[in-house]
Amino acid sequence: MREPFVAGNWKMNTDGPSSMDLAERIALESVGIANQSVTVAVCPPFVYLQAVVKVLKSSSIAVGAQNSYFEPKGAFTGEISISMLKDIGCTYCLCGHSERRHVIGETDGLINQKVIAAINGGLLPILCVGELLAEREASKTEEVVTRHVKKGLAGLSAEKVSAVTIAYEPVWAIGTGLTATPQQAQEVHDFIRKLLGQMYDEKLAEEIRIQYGGSVKPDNAEELMSKKDVDGLLVGGASLKADDFIAIIRAAI
Ligand code: 13P
Repeated sequence: MREPFVAGNWKMNTDGPSSMDLAERIALESVGIANQSVTVAVCPPFVYLQAVVKVLKSSSIAVGAQNSYFEPKGAFTGEISISMLKDIGCTYCLCGHSERRHVIGETDGLINQKVIAAINGGLLPILCVGELLAEREASKTEEVVTRHVKKGLAGLSAEKVSAVTIAYEPVWAIGTGLTATPQQAQEVHDFIRKLLGQMYDEKLAEEIRIQYGGSVKPDNAEELMSKKDVDGLLVGGASLKADDFIAIIRAAI
């Protein structure tokens, strides 16, 4: 069965002391869930990654980056390679988060290169997909999600895709307090799983984990996780409070 996977995306929040404090609190609290079958990761801003890796070293919590570049090295001012992230102890890498798609302007093609580079470089990508409010209102959710999944995974074999986690994050639910209902999340997760079955095979579709993200809080986490195809949660705002993040992890177990 698919082990629940909860990840915290700190986005461009925290400073040095608050990153340390948050990581230390999460490490301390995570002792209580150490023997449970759940995967947990946090994704701090680049500049605090190394320090957070150090704090979480003896815990069961993994660290991920929020972004990366696909080229291995060279004249790419301001970019961070997969091997650099691996070097400092990262396990995961977010790819195609909606803020990178819609604020920074990342394309499906670029995101695909990042997913491929992450897998080939030994990091586990979390490919984020999801529709805008106008797209949902125009009944285009399935069309958008299909494009994000197909283009994001283009050129990858089933074996390579088994390293990927998909995060369904409807853009209208991110940071808005508007959560998709558990039923809405289930419908899209079920759709994505069937799509993966068509693109690859049933075995892969059954094994791949699909997280939900968008205003996940301690009081809605359990209901979202009760849905058959919701395998985990990608948490923004609530992952900045250790108590809330731990409560969400407990709700996911
Ligand atoms: P919020 O939980 O703040 O809505 O953010 C979700 C998200 O974008 C996680 O990647």
